[in-house]
Formats: sequence, C-alpha cells, structure tokens
Amino acid sequence: MPHLHVASSARLPVASRLRWPHIRSERGATCQGARGLATVAAPAQATHSPPPLDSKVPPRARGARELWLHDKAYEHGFYQSIAKIMQWRDRYVEDRTIFVRHEEMVDLMRGLGAREEDFGRLQVVSDNLQTDPTLPFRKSRTGRFCMDYDRQSLRRLEFQSFSLSAAEDFKRHDSDTVRVFDEIQEDLHSNTVLQGLMIFKAMVMHGVPTMRRPNFDYGANKWVCTMFNLRTLTRPDILGEPALEGVHTDGVDHTMTTYPGSSNMTPNSAVTLLHERDETTGTPFHETSPNKIYGRAQHTKFLDTLLVADHEYKHSLSPVYAVDEAQEATRDMLIFFTRKPVTEGHIMAGSDSLKSHEESPLDIPLFTLPNGECAD
Ligand SMILES: [Fe+2]
Repeated sequence: MPHLHVASSARLPVASRLRWPHIRSERGATCQGARGLATVAAPAQATHSPPPLDSKVPPRARGARELWLHDKAYEHGFYQSIAKIMQWRDRYVEDRTIFVRHEEMVDLMRGLGAREEDFGRLQVVSDNLQTDPTLPFRKSRTGRFCMDYDRQSLRRLEFQSFSLSAAEDFKRHDSDTVRVFDEIQEDLHSNTVLQGLMIFKAMVMHGVPTMRRPNFDYGANKWVCTMFNLRTLTRPDILGEPALEGVHTDGVDHTMTTYPGSSNMTPNSAVTLLHERDETTGTPFHETSPNKIYGRAQHTKFLDTLLVADHEYKHSLSPVYAVDEAQEATRDMLIFFTRKPVTEGHIMAGSDSLKSHEESPLDIPLFTLPNGECAD
C-alpha cells in the first residue's frame, strides 16, 4: 500500500521557486489530466530585499488578530516556510495527497506569522461547540471563506446553508437536505493559526489541476472554502462516527483536515483510509476492499494535517472509541472543503454567495504563486 509521505529536506532554494516583486497568478500553466502532472515553475530570480507581497487588499490598520503576511516578508523564517510549503506542493502535484505532521505544521504556521498564544487557543476552541443539525454524536460550527485570486486575499464570506448530495458520492440519511450549522465565533475566526492553515492550503492547492466536477465554475479565479469545526463524541450510549456515511467524497476539489486534539480516545480510533475511485460509495469502513485502498493516515498530534484531491480518491474513517468506556471520548477536527464557485444545476446553487461577512469581516493577503491558475 502506498504511504502518505513526509517531506524530505529542502531540495530547492526558495529564490529558485519564487518570483519577486510581482507574485500573482498567471494563466496558461501546463495542465495534464489527473495524477502525475506537473506545473510550470517560474525562472529563478533572487532579490536581496523583496518588496511587499502583491496583494490588492487595501492597506489599512490591521488588528492583532489578523495574520498579515506583509509583516513577515523580510524574515528568514518566512522564506524557509515558503520553501517547505513549495516542497509540499510538489508532492501534492505528484501524489494528489499529502500528510504534514505536527512538528512541521507548527513551524510552518510560526513562519507565516501565527501568534504564539493562538496555538493554545486552537486546542480548546472546540469546547465551545454546541450542536449539530443532523448528527446526535457530533457538535459543529462552520465558517465560509473566499480564496480570492482576483484580489490575492482571503476573505470571510457571509453565512449560507449547506448541502451535500448523493450525486457527489455522499450517501447518508441527510444527503440532499439543507443543513443549517451554527457559525464559528470570534474565538476561532480571529485565530491566526486558523488563518495560516487556510493560507497554507491555498498555496499548496492553487494552480494544481484536478479531475473536474460538474457544475463548478472552473473559469473563476476564486475558491470557496467552507470550514467546519467538529467534535465527534462517543459515550456509553452512542458511538461517534467521523464518517457515518462510510466510503464517500466531500463534493469538492480539495479537502484538508487538521487535528486540534482529542480526549479519552483509543489509538485505533479515527483512522482515515483513502480508496480508489471505483470503491463503492457507502461501503462501511471495515468492509472496504483491501485492493482498492490507496493509503492510510491518522491524525494523532496537534496540527497533523491531511490534504486530498477530493474527486480523485474516496475516503472513509473508523469510529471514535473510548479508552475508559464509562467516560466520554472526544475527537476534534478542523475541516476545510475548497472548491470553485458552483453554477446552475448544483445543489448549492443559490447558497454560494461571495458577499463578505458583515458582522465578522476578515480580509487578509494570500501568498500567490508565480505559476498560478491553470487554464485549458
Ligand atoms: Fe469526508
């Protein structure tokens, strides 16, 4: 079985992969089918004093709770993080999935400028979850963001309801229904580690062509990122299932899952299997075909992160089991679903607004790659 990989030491100096001063998306990069494809790297061009990032986010006084890449653009650790993220992007282009472990993810977030106190805040933020619209063993909140490459910004979007359909390889009792989740609160919205995770994801996935889904606007220079903060609970009277639906996809282009923590959870809990696309949707985790398993991953340490090209694999997860079966076990997750905006005919058409969130605005710069968007 192929394994999910961890990046090796630096292979390319950062200056060979980046182009200053105008780092922005360019159309026309090489696109090839699904797996095993490559994108076009920019020519080497080193500078000693790089100017600010080329974001169109208006200069303004920013709050302490915003991760502002401009502030780090002259620091050594920033360039090291960018170089490592580029290596992960290479791996993602090759394998269509990566798993980044705790220690490196912490370093990457620090390098991008995340505040030290936000690491601790992220580990306890799931304590404030209250309800879930359809699952009795889960608590959840959601927030919507736009990775907007017309502005090179990450922007929080207004609230919308949520649906996943059986047509998108998601078969559960609540498939095709409209679900209304609680919204994330200031404690998560303002966490610079959360913001850094989305900047990381945008850097790795942007310009990586994947197998296309119907009814997505692949001509748009924007991505919609629906983020979920989830807590799965197992108690003596109920078994927590991170994927009750069995083998499925998330109906998006790129899914990223990051682990804040757990309590009273056994080591065999919440194992993620990646399956070949011809595995039958809905198959329970323990009944999947061994010869259709592509890889296995398990989040066990703070900030362990899995990224998958969602339409190119299916996935399933084992339940959450309790060490002390008389007590509650919990498993917290941050899930980032990212896709192009939908078009008419998609179940989310009419619930895919690109308007900014009025009560809790966020508008921070993204880091844009020179080989940017892929057009065909
Ligand atoms: Fe999923």
